[in-house]
Parts: sequence; C-alpha cells; structure tokens
Amino acid sequence: MQKKGKFIVFEGIDGSGKSTQIKMLGEAFKKRGIAFCETLEPTFGIAGEVLHDILSGKKTADPKVTAALFAADRLDHLTNPKNGVCKTLDEGTCVICDRYYFSSYAYQSVEVPKEWVVSANSLAAEILRPDCTIFIDVEPRVAMERISQNRENIEIYESLERLTAVRCAYMEAFSSMKDVENVKIFNGNKMPEEIALEIEEFVFGELL
Ligand code: ADP
Ligand code: TYD
Repeated sequence: MQKKGKFIVFEGIDGSGKSTQIKMLGEAFKKRGIAFCETLEPTFGIAGEVLHDILSGKKTADPKVTAALFAADRLDHLTNPKNGVCKTLDEGTCVICDRYYFSSYAYQSVEVPKEWVVSANSLAAEILRPDCTIFIDVEPRVAMERISQNRENIEIYESLERLTAVRCAYMEAFSSMKDVENVKIFNGNKMPEEIALEIEEFVFGELL
C-alpha cells in the first residue's frame, strides 16, 4: 500500500508570515521532487464562502455561529470527495495547510468559551490530527506593522489588541494540548530566508 502523505499545518497570527513560509517550503518540496499540495482555511467551499464575507465585514454573524461555520468548513475541507485533504493524503501526497483547528482555538475562543470551540472541532480532530503544526511566532506589534504596510483591506480580527489576545490563546492551547499535538514554534521575527531554512531542516530532517 502507498505510504500516506504527511499533513503539515502552519499557524500564526495574521501577518506572521505563514503564506511567505508556505511558499518557500513548497519550493523546497519541488526541489526534492516530493509530491505535495498547498491548501488553506477558510476554504472557498460552501461554508468557506460565507466565512470570507463575515471576515471582510460584508456579512455579520454571532461569534458562536462563526465558530460553528469554521468547524463545518473544516469538515468539508477534510472529507470533500473531489479534493478533500484526507483523499489527497491517502494518495501519498503531503498536504501543507495554512491554518487548521488551532486557529479556531485561538481566534474563536477570544469570544466563545474554549471548551465549546474544542468540542465543535472534535470531529475534525478525530478524523485528522496534523503530523506537525508549525507556529510562526511574531510579536503582535510587528505583525500589525506588516499588515498595515501591505494590505488595502484590514479584516475584522486585525487589531493590535485582538492579535495580542489571539497569540496568548494560541500559547494556552499549545500548552493544554501538548500531550496529543506535535507543535513546533519558529521565531518569525527573523529574516524570511533564515526562518525558511530552519523549517526546511525540521521538515526534511525530522518529519518526513
Ligand atoms: P500571513 O500569511 O501570516 O498573513 P504573509 O506571509 O502574508 O503573512 O506576510 C505578511 C507581510 O509580511 C507580507 O508583506 C510579507 O512580505 C511580509 N513578511 C513575511 N515574512 C516576513 C519576515 N520574516 N520579515 C519581514 N516581513 C515579512
Ligand atoms: P487568513 O486568510 O489566513 O489570514 P492571514 O493571511 O491574514 O493570516 O485567515 C483569515 C482570517 O480567518 C484570520 O484572521 C484568522 C481567521 N480564522 C479564524 O478566526 N478561525 C479559523 O478557524 C480560521 C481557519 C481562520
């Protein structure tokens, strides 16, 4: 039987440099000729479409509804028979994913009780836990500077106060789940190339 692909998730506050690092890790996969696929949450599937409107402020929803939509979008992302993550991994392809359930634990638990958020995501956790969650850690002030320099539209969660609370919630979630989750924290305040090298060494030296 073909070996299952690895599921590698990137997490971090907005502006932490996830997209930049995912692109660089993708190049490293290509260089080695290892099959991989990049994906992200929220998706553009049935629940994901609504979430994008909520994030941009086009639609409004109670935080509990938003949290439930993120959980639904995640299940669709995993199980979708056309291009679902589980199917891709079963075919032996590695999946690099921009955000997964730790994003919900960190962002939604600022407004909704964390136990509820964890419980809403328990089906996704039963189906698939990441082989590794790579957390790019930057100071919220640095992330805000990057966001305001590079974006025309600021999303609803992008304020210094909010990103500080989110970073703190990430750290709490990592600590409370350390026995069941494999989380690697990288210092995102360094130069992009330096961070990419550290991630590359970890992924190809330890994980694969
Ligand atoms: P995210 O996907 O986490 O929101 P991005 O990768 O889009 O973050 O990066 C946000 C902005 O910061 C982009 O303009 C990017 O070029 C810049 N950036 C990314 N990584 C670094 C870094 N290590 N140092 C300085 N700027 C960075
Ligand atoms: P993303 O497009 O990755 O933003 P960025 O590139 O700025 O990091 O994610 C969009 C927003 O969605 C981001 O503010 C985090 C939020 N989010 C949640 O609140 N909960 C979730 O479960 C996920 C996946 C994302």
